[in-house]
Amino acid sequence: MSATQEMPYFIKPSINLTTNKKRAAYEQASLGIDANLIKESNLILKMVTINCILKTYLPYYYWVGFYIVNNGRLSVGPYQGTLGCLHIDFSKGVCGRAAREEKTQIVKDVHLLNKDKAHIACDPNSQSEIVVPVFDKDKNLIAVFDVDSTLKNSFDAIDQFFLETIIKKHFTN
Ligand code: SME
Repeated sequence: MSATQEMPYFIKPSINLTTNKKRAAYEQASLGIDANLIKESNLILKMVTINCILKTYLPYYYWVGFYIVNNGRLSVGPYQGTLGCLHIDFSKGVCGRAAREEKTQIVKDVHLLNKDKAHIACDPNSQSEIVVPVFDKDKNLIAVFDVDSTLKNSFDAIDQFFLETIIKKHFTN
């Protein structure tokens, strides 16, 4: 079974935000994440909380989750959304590129990428994407954080700034 074009009842299509509303939403989400994770050390609890709060505040977050480095590849971790691919090789997809290059990837239109090589479509509704590498305290890559939108051009430098800040604060520092 894989994700279908038809969205299940519990999932809604993305809504893009203006720059000011996006910044304000991230500021509120960051406060909520900090308040809930201030004394938390459990990796999985951090991941599920970050998924939940960001998806609550950012209406263009269609699929949001982590792919965890495991046995030389990426394996799906905590996520919210339709069925995610279980494993991704470092040589494949936007997630694999983020892991290889250890740099955030912003894709304005996933359909401009080579299908199945440069982009893996776990859900046919995905139109744009951001993937942020996650490092531990020793600066080792431990995961990537992946967000999909059903609209083009949902992600930009503001998403990159806030997501890199949140991830560094709660996984690396
Ligand atoms: N689109 C990602 C695969 C993960 S699904 O989006 C959840 C990629 O190209 O690596």
